[in-house]
Parts: sequence; structure tokens; C-alpha cells
Amino acid sequence: MPDSLPNTDSYWMPFTANRQFKARPKLLVSAKDMHYKTADGATLLDGTAGLWCVNAGHSRPKIVEAIQRQAAELDYAPPFQVAHPAAFENASRVAALLPGDLNKVFFVNSGSESVDTALKIAIAYHRVRGQGTRTRIIGRERGYHGVGFGGISVGGIPNNRKVFGSLLTGVDHLPHTHNLEHNAFSRGQPEWGAHLADSLEGIVALHDASNIAAVIVEPMAGSTGVLIPPKGYLQRLREICDRHGILLIFDEVISGFGRLGTAFATEFFGVTPDIVTCAKGINSGTVPMGAVIVRDGIYDAFMQGPPEVIELFHGYTCSAHPMAVAASLATLDLYREEGIFENAAALSSYFEDAVHSLRGLPNVIDVRNLGLVAGIELAPIPGKPTARAYDVFTRCFFDIGILIRTTGDIIALSPPLIITRAQVDELVGKLAIAIKAAA
Ligand SMILES: Cc1ncc(COP(=O)(O)O)c(C=O)c1O
Repeated sequence: MPDSLPNTDSYWMPFTANRQFKARPKLLVSAKDMHYKTADGATLLDGTAGLWCVNAGHSRPKIVEAIQRQAAELDYAPPFQVAHPAAFENASRVAALLPGDLNKVFFVNSGSESVDTALKIAIAYHRVRGQGTRTRIIGRERGYHGVGFGGISVGGIPNNRKVFGSLLTGVDHLPHTHNLEHNAFSRGQPEWGAHLADSLEGIVALHDASNIAAVIVEPMAGSTGVLIPPKGYLQRLREICDRHGILLIFDEVISGFGRLGTAFATEFFGVTPDIVTCAKGINSGTVPMGAVIVRDGIYDAFMQGPPEVIELFHGYTCSAHPMAVAASLATLDLYREEGIFENAAALSSYFEDAVHSLRGLPNVIDVRNLGLVAGIELAPIPGKPTARAYDVFTRCFFDIGILIRTTGDIIALSPPLIITRAQVDELVGKLAIAIKAAA
């Protein structure tokens, strides 16, 4: 460890085993393009785009300069009853990446805020249309929708919920779609499982459609271990929601901004929801930011009554923060100028072949992939869930020179979308060494 090791006492780290971390800190001190530098001076190939967000690669000059310029010119502007011009341009540019009438953009500062905002809009939307009994929200087992009370309520990860009291009332959950018996080692979307969407009909029958506001799912679930939707599943959810007047929300915090090789997953799957949540890749993770995009009809439903009355009592001090917006505009420019989403699309089958070469390694019980995302599931060590994948993660960080992410015993890969073929080979080759060493 270098002499400059910080005193780690005061910082309560998020989603981290604090005592384990502080016994042997994993510290990152700089980053450029596809690589991090650690406090030990080692170079890590970034296999996770930071945390599913640095889609354009690290410390890109165009984004850095935009943030610097903005900080010097207009550091902050209040977003309530006042605005700065670039916020409007940013909203138009984000809306232009989404299909159909998904045209109205509400800015927030994180994925969690985007989810809670979307849930509030969904419930309030029905109310302003005179359907105020539609308040229930349907999430899904194993869903991850951030850490706000709304997000953990509709989310389906037991550890994220169990110690936080009664949560939001009026929530129900669809079954998750992960099934190794039917779908292990699927390439791309699995064949089996579209029928799992039909359980929404059962939930509607139980509660009655007149009480249900929205269904929220990640079109491709990342944080819970890369769960790829079965073929036809999302289409069926859309049909059932339409049949019952229920809004469909796609949480695209991970899948937005090119992860699957299209701007958003909605385009990839050919299914258009009513509301989209996003964050992370909106400015390549450089400044906290998120957004909720709604269909015109949802926005229009609120634009009733006297024009001097605030239509939605919701917002954040840093909604459309000038630096976040400047970073987003520069990032969207880079995505377009360098064809970064197209690079993700062009590399996805190479990436698929590479990650599936891990099949057959010790303890690998599944490999799944879509776009530039892969999940490699390991058999847990009996009685010690998560230990095997954590061992792989630690070896990768300290000994092997790649940054990966693990959830339970699942390794997730989601590299920056500027990755090259040679770097795909390096990432997967080094991961194979770590998996073998950890066995
Ligand atoms: C699908 C999804 N929704 C919401 C979130 C929460 O985002 P944040 O951590 O920015 O609050 C995440 C974070 O990974 C996510 O993957």
C-alpha cells in the first residue's frame, strides 16, 4: 500500500462490507478511456464501466472540458420557476433517442430518484384523469430499482428490503424470469419464459385493474445478476398492460444509452413503454444525473387547470444541474460522433462468443449475455454464498488487473462501450485465469 493511504474511519461506504474493505482497501485514483489506476500503481482494465455508467470511457477530454467550462460560467441555477437554456436542449436530445411520443423529460440526480419520480408520476397521472383508485404498483422479484422507499418497495431483492419496515403499501410482484433449468447458457434472449408475463393477469384479477397504476420492470435486469428477458416476454407485458389501462414503466438505468447497442432497450426489444427511467450513461457517469421520460399524453394530462398553478409538486434542488447538463450534452455528442452505440452493436456477437468460452471452467453454471452485458454464474461454495465470486473479484483487482462486478455468486461484465476486440479478449482471458485460480 502507498504512504498516502487515507484514514478510512469516517466514511461509511455504500453497499460495501465496510470492515472487510477497510482491512484491505481497493482504491482507485485515476482513470483514462478503458483503464483505472489503483493506489498501488496497478492498471485495471475496466470490465464494468465503473458501475454500469461510464459508457463513453473514462475522463474523455470533450466531457471534462464541458464540465470545466460550465463550472466557470454558470455553476448553479435554481430549477424551480427558473431555468438555464441548456436544460431544454438536453431534454430534447434525450427525447430524440426514444421512440414514438416518449417526448417529455423530467430531470433528477440518480437512478433511484428517477424510479421514485416515475412511480409518483404514474400514480398522480391516474388521479388527474379522475382514476384516483389506481394507486397500486407492480414490480418484479429480483428487480432492482434503486434504494428510495419506492424503489425498494417495487424492487425484489430481499436484502434491500427486509430491515426497512413496511415500505410502500399497495405493491405486488411478478415472478422473475431467471431459470437455469430451462435457460442455462442461452446466447442472447432465452427461448423459455414468455408465459411468465401472464402472471400479471393473475395479479390484475386479484386487485382489479381499477386499482393498479403501473407495472415497473427492467427490460434487461443488471444489478440482480444479469437477467435477460425471454423472447416475447416484454411484448406480453405490454399487451396485458394495454388491455387493463395500466402504465408500463421500463427502468433503463442500466440499459439506457447504448448498453445493448441501441440508444435504449425499448428500441432493441421493439416494445414501447409509457415511462422510461434512466441515469448513469446519460452523462457517462461523470456528474450525478438521471431522467424520467414520459409519453406526451401523460404530460398533457397534467397540463390542465389554471396555468399559474404548479402541475406536479415534485423536483430536486439539483434537477438539471448545469454541470450535469453540460456533461450530458458533451456525452451525447461523443456517442454520436464516435458511433459508440454502433460499436456496442458491432461487438456484441464477438463479446458473446468470448464470454461463452468461459463455459466449462470450474464452477461456472451459467453464462448469459446481451449487447455488451454478460453474467457468469458460479456455483456457491456450500454454506458460504457470495464467497466464491468475491474471491474472483478480489483476485481480479489485486492480482490480475481487471475490474469486474459481482452480485451474490454472479459475475457481471458491462465494459465501457468503446471497448475493442483485443480488450474483450484480454478481459475474458484474465477473468478465466481468476475463475480457475479461485476454484
Ligand atoms: C435498473 C436500476 N434502477 C435504478 C438504479 C439506481 O440508480 P442509482 O444508484 O443511481 O440511484 C440502478 C442502479 O444500478 C439500476 O440498475
